[in-house]
Amino acid sequence: MNQIQRGVLALCMLASGGAFAADAVSLTIDAARPGAVINKDVYGQFAEHLGTGIYEGLWVGPKSKIPNTKGWRNDVVGALKNIHVPLVRWPGGCFADEYHWRDGIGAREKRPVNVNTNWGGVDESNAVGTHEFFDLVEMLGADAYVNGNLGTGSAQEMSEWIEYMTSDSKSTLANMRRKNGHDKPFKVAYFAVGNEAWGCGGNMSPQYYSDVYKQVETFLRAPKQYRPKIIASGGNDNDVTWSEVLSKELKKQTDGISFHYYTIPTGKWEVKGASTGFQENEWISTLANTLRMESHIQKNSAAMDKNDPEKKLGLFVDEWGTWYDVEKGTNPGFLFQQNTLRDAVVAALNFNIFHAHAERVRMTNIAQMVNVLQSMIITDKDRMLLTPTYYTYQMYVPFQGATSLPVTLKDNPDYSAGGFKVPEISASAARGTDGKLYLALVNTNPNKDADVALNIPGQAIKAVKGSVLTSSAMDTHNTFQSPNAIKPAPFSAAAGADGKLTVRIPAKAVIVVAVE
Ligand code: AHR
Repeated sequence: MNQIQRGVLALCMLASGGAFAADAVSLTIDAARPGAVINKDVYGQFAEHLGTGIYEGLWVGPKSKIPNTKGWRNDVVGALKNIHVPLVRWPGGCFADEYHWRDGIGAREKRPVNVNTNWGGVDESNAVGTHEFFDLVEMLGADAYVNGNLGTGSAQEMSEWIEYMTSDSKSTLANMRRKNGHDKPFKVAYFAVGNEAWGCGGNMSPQYYSDVYKQVETFLRAPKQYRPKIIASGGNDNDVTWSEVLSKELKKQTDGISFHYYTIPTGKWEVKGASTGFQENEWISTLANTLRMESHIQKNSAAMDKNDPEKKLGLFVDEWGTWYDVEKGTNPGFLFQQNTLRDAVVAALNFNIFHAHAERVRMTNIAQMVNVLQSMIITDKDRMLLTPTYYTYQMYVPFQGATSLPVTLKDNPDYSAGGFKVPEISASAARGTDGKLYLALVNTNPNKDADVALNIPGQAIKAVKGSVLTSSAMDTHNTFQSPNAIKPAPFSAAAGADGKLTVRIPAKAVIVVAVE
C-alpha cells in the first residue's frame, strides 16, 4: 500500500464512524420522483485520426509485436471494455471534413496515403477505415457514431457511405462491403452531417448550414432497421444561435444537434495552462470554467425548447473535456497532455451536469479516448497507463442507463480562491438498472474535507459502499515510472446510533457509492 492509499484508507475509516462537523452540507434525494433515464451514450468516447490517438494508441496493425486482435491493441481494448464504453465517435472532428471513406476500404497496402492537414501534417495511411473501425466497436461491445464529410465531401459521398454500411440489398456498394469482409450491414447508431461547420468544417453560417443539411439529409437513405440517428452539427461555448436556428429549420429532418465545449484553465486559447504543476488558482479556474457547461446546456436547451418543447431532439455534447498546452517536446499538432486528479474532478462535475439534463442531453463524447486531450489511456510503445479520468468513468458505470433522481443540496458553501468561487459539493443520484440507488459526490475544495448529511424521505439509510478517488496533490497523475500513483480506493460509511448517515468526503475527491 503506498502513501496515497494509506491516506485514503484513513479518511475512509473516518467516514465510517468519526465525529462530524456541525456545519455539514445537507443532501436530500427524492427517490419517489424519478426523472429521465440517463442514456448510456452519455458515457460515449471520441477517437479521431489525430496524433497517436488511433495509430499507436489503439491501432498497431495485425503484424505488430504488440499483442493485438485484427490490429487493435489487446491491452487498450481490454481496459476500455472495463469501463463499458457504450459508443465511439469516429473519424473526427476536423479530420472528418477531409475524410473520404473510399480511401479506407479494400486491401490496406493499396490504400492511398493522404496528408492529415488538420493535425500535424503527418501522413495518413488510411490503414484504419470503415471495416477496422467496426472491428473496434464490435470488440468493445459499443455502438458506432460515424461523422460524415460535409466540408470537402458531398451529398453523394455521404449517401453512398450510408448505403455501403447499411444496405442489405444486392447493390454494387452492398456487394463491395461483402467482398471486403462484412456480409451483414453494419449497425450505425448515429451519423453526423459535418463537424464544427462554423469553423474547421467550412466556416458556414447556421442558416447556410441548415440549407445544405436539408439537401444532404434527403439522400441519407438506409433500411428502417439500420437507419442511424442523423445529427446536425451545432454550435459551441456561449453561442446559442446554432441551437436556435437548427432546431427551427431542421426539426423534421434531424434527431439532434451537437454542441462542443472545452474546458481551458485560463479561458484563453493562446496560453491555455499546463496539465501538471499548476497552482491552486488554475485548479479553481478550471473547475469554474468546466461548471459553465451547466449554463451552456441550459441556454441551448431553452433555445431548442422554443421550437421543440417536447424535447424530441437531443442536445449531443459530442466534444467536451479539458484542453491544456501540449506537453513540452511533443508535436503541437498531436494535442498530447497529461491527466491528473483535476481531470477526474472535471469529468465527475460534467457527469453530474449531464445527469441533471438527461431529458435533453442524451449523448456525449469526451475528447478523446487515447493519448489526445482528456484521455482515458496513455500509451508509450508497448506500455499503457490508465488516467484519473479513466477511473472516474469506471466509478460512474452504474449511472449508464440509470434513472436520474432529484437531489437537493442545502448549506453548500462556496469554495473560493484566486478570485473564483465554485460550490464545494456537487452531487448526483440515480436508480441503477440493478435496482440499487447510486450517489456520486465531488468535493471541489482541495484544502478541506467536507461532511455531507444524507437524507432520503421515507427511507432509512444504513450504509453507503463504493469507491473514492483522491490524492494528496492536486496534480497527482500516473506515469510509466509510477503507474498506480492514483487509483480508486474502497469507500464506506455507516449510519450512527441516531440512524443518521453523514459522509465525510476528503478534500479534492470524487466518490461513487451504492446507498443501502
Ligand atoms: O478534439 C480536437 C478538435 O477539437 C476536433 O477535431 C474539433 O472538432 C475540435 O475543434
